[in-house]
Amino acid sequence: MESLCGRDVLSMADLSRSEVLYLLDFSSQMKSGAITPRCPKVLGLLFQKASTRTRVSFSVAMYQLGGNVIDLNPQSTQVGRGEPLPDTARVLDRYLDALAIRTFAQADLETIANHARIPVINALTDREHPCQVLADLLTLKESFGGLEDLTLTYVGDGNNMAHSLLLGCALVGVNIRIAAPVGYQPLPEIVSQAEGIAAGKSEVVITTDVKAAAVGSHALYTDVWASMGQEDEAADRMPLFQPYQINDELLELANPNAIVLHCLPAHRGEEITTAVLEGPQSRVWEEAENRLHAQKALLASILA
Ligand code: CP
Ligand code: NVA
Repeated sequence: MESLCGRDVLSMADLSRSEVLYLLDFSSQMKSGAITPRCPKVLGLLFQKASTRTRVSFSVAMYQLGGNVIDLNPQSTQVGRGEPLPDTARVLDRYLDALAIRTFAQADLETIANHARIPVINALTDREHPCQVLADLLTLKESFGGLEDLTLTYVGDGNNMAHSLLLGCALVGVNIRIAAPVGYQPLPEIVSQAEGIAAGKSEVVITTDVKAAAVGSHALYTDVWASMGQEDEAADRMPLFQPYQINDELLELANPNAIVLHCLPAHRGEEITTAVLEGPQSRVWEEAENRLHAQKALLASILA
């Protein structure tokens, strides 16, 4: 395995299979307290969208590593007044040790990464959410004692979560099924990329048939029907996505030991019912906690 030190993580596919497996193992060791690495560095958080989990878990991860965090809210930096991203990147990289960015266009994230020598981490773009998927895979691994012979079915919008799950599951050999309505399926180039990574060793299925996709799955996963920046489309999307709700009927089709995942925040009664979200098969709170452990492992590795 190549060193992760200094690595940008802009996409789930910036990590190899062995690196993801290493990070999951490292996360578990930190979570159990078996190892407590120190990394007294400074992480900048440049977030152009709201965040609870990502912001707080990155911050606490840095504090627990003996480091610090600076909140680079666009409204309180010159970013909000239009200072060009390449200029911002070249300045920030002279102060900070790493930068976690939440923004709209993947191209903006790439621009910053191309102009900063420090590691840049995707903390969510419209295209991907790789840090969430590290936590999701950790939750899956903890729930089943490993990642072998598992199928994860993602139901709903073929969005950033669907994209990073496609790539992440393909990397670790988990079968991935995406059930999404026509017009809202994941980007074909990401599906092809996931198929290339899976290389026929695990399943990559894109379908509109939500019930068929759920049958026998070990994890049912969903996300909001309208992501940040798509609020105006929410009402139009609602009837289209209604058949893609995770409810008791859909869960009944999954493996009897199936777990339910959601990156959160959840819209109860829309993409998931309260009964399922709060039910015995839900692992959403463990999943949210795992953001901290997975990102701590990632930070300790890229800042080593
Ligand atoms: N799941 C997730 O990224 O949550 P936040 O938007 O609260 O960071
Ligand atoms: N798809 C959602 C994920 C939020 C964590 C969004 O981009 O808003």
